[in-house]
Amino acid sequence: MTRPYVIDELISAKAIAARIEELAREIRRAYKDSDKLIVVGLLRGSFVFIADLVRELDLPIEVDFIEVSSYGDATESSREVRILKDLRGEVQGRDVLVVEDIVDTGHTLRHVTNLLLSREPARLSSIALLDKPSRREVDFKADYIGFEIPDEFVVGYGIDYAQRNRNLPYIGAVRFTDEART
Ligand code: IMP
Ligand code: MG
Repeated sequence: MTRPYVIDELISAKAIAARIEELAREIRRAYKDSDKLIVVGLLRGSFVFIADLVRELDLPIEVDFIEVSSYGDATESSREVRILKDLRGEVQGRDVLVVEDIVDTGHTLRHVTNLLLSREPARLSSIALLDKPSRREVDFKADYIGFEIPDEFVVGYGIDYAQRNRNLPYIGAVRFTDEART
C-alpha cells in the first residue's frame, strides 16, 4: 500500500522532447566518428527516455540493458547496488553511453559506470534525464543532464513510485495528501 498522493506537473512532455533534441545533438557531435555506440539503458526507469533518445541519434548504435536493484517500494535509497540483469553484449574496446532516469544520491550510476569501466570500454559516458544535486552522497556527475530538479520525489516518463505512474507522458512531483496541513 502507498500513501494517497496527487501528481503536480513539473516538466511537460513538450519540454522533455525539446531537451532530448538538444542532448542528442551534443551526443551526435561527440560520437560522430564512432563506428558503433552501445547505448546502455538502466532498467526499468530509463525505458521511455532511451526510446526517445535513440530515435534522435542518427549514429550507428546498439541498444543493451542492465538492471540493478533499486529502492523497492520506498522513496529512500537502500544505497546498496546489486546487478539483477547484466548486459548481453561485450563492451571492451567499444564506445558506451549509459542512460539513466535520475541521479539522486549518485550511488547507482557511480556503481554502474565503475563496473562498466572495469570492462575496459574505449569511451564511457553517461546521460541522466534528471539530476537532484542537493541529494548527492557520492561525488558523481553525469556527462549529459536533461534537467536539474529540486529534492522532490518524481514520477512519469518511465519513472515510478511503487511501480506506478511510469506511463505518464510528463514528469510530475508526488505530493502526499495525508500530511498534516498548516
Ligand atoms: P541513486 O543511486 O540514489 O542516485 O538513485 C538513483 C535511482 O533512484 C534512480 O535510478 C531511480 O530509480 C531512483 N530514484 C531517485 N529519485 C527518484 C524519484 O524522485 N522518483 C523515482 N525514483 C527515483
Ligand atoms: Mg532507476
